[in-house]
Amino acid sequence: MPSTWMTLARFWAWTTEALLRYAVTTLIKQYPLESGALEIQFIEEHFGEFGRRKTAADILTRLSDRPSLILMVEAPMPDEPGSLVPVAYKVVHELRADEREPKLCDLVARVRDHVDFAGQRVAYSWIGGTRRDWRGQGHFRALSEEAELWASALGCGVMLAKTKNRFHDMRAALAQLHFDVFKFEAHAADNTHSKVYYAKRLEAGMVRDQRSNRTVVVMD
Ligand SMILES: CC(C)(COP(=O)(O)OP(=O)(O)OC[C@H]1O[C@@H](n2cnc3c(N)ncnc32)[C@H](O)[C@@H]1OP(=O)(O)O)[C@@H](O)C(=O)NCCC(=O)NCCS
Repeated sequence: MPSTWMTLARFWAWTTEALLRYAVTTLIKQYPLESGALEIQFIEEHFGEFGRRKTAADILTRLSDRPSLILMVEAPMPDEPGSLVPVAYKVVHELRADEREPKLCDLVARVRDHVDFAGQRVAYSWIGGTRRDWRGQGHFRALSEEAELWASALGCGVMLAKTKNRFHDMRAALAQLHFDVFKFEAHAADNTHSKVYYAKRLEAGMVRDQRSNRTVVVMD
């Protein structure tokens, strides 16, 4: 008898978790450039694993002359369910073959042999993450899926991303979101700093495969 109750209890726990996962809607806010840059600067302060955090000025310099998307998830504090705080973010922008800014010129030079810039527009998933206490709740999937829709609507055929070998969580998440590695750049002295380049084709039917349940609020 006890084993029947244990089986029922396990089934109940599994069902509740599955229902919560699919019923919970992720609240995404889409920001215009100026206020978005400040929001990103604020949320990056919560990420201990980043070496040099982006400032609002970095964001403005990078994004001011190109199509870009600044998204942020707001979710309740665990001990204060009534109050929403920014917990995850993603910044995506167009990457062109004729970039002038040195960092982007360098990026284009490193990916040019693998990415077709002539036959399509290209999107680059620049920065993003989820605060530690809110990881594993689907926030990054929701942001990524929304960003893919935006890039596709812009006419991009591919989304690029880049990370370092040592960022295992990001590598796992990108794999799970079906990004493929197309280039590995070994660091001569420290393999944890080797760079991994990813691409995901943005297909017409991708909405069908999207799994996140999200609401997007466009901010003024
Ligand atoms: C990577 C990161 C963004 C994931 O955010 P998250 O909100 O926890 O991700 P999600 O819950 O939306 O997960 C998305 C998918 O990736 C998978 N995933 C995420 N982290 C994972 C991990 N550490 N191991 C295995 N799978 C993982 C999830 O299972 C999920 O897959 P599913 O939807 O098919 O079940 C977060 O861990 C993070 O911010 N890490 C630090 C950021 C970083 O390293 N930045 C470096 C600069 S690039």
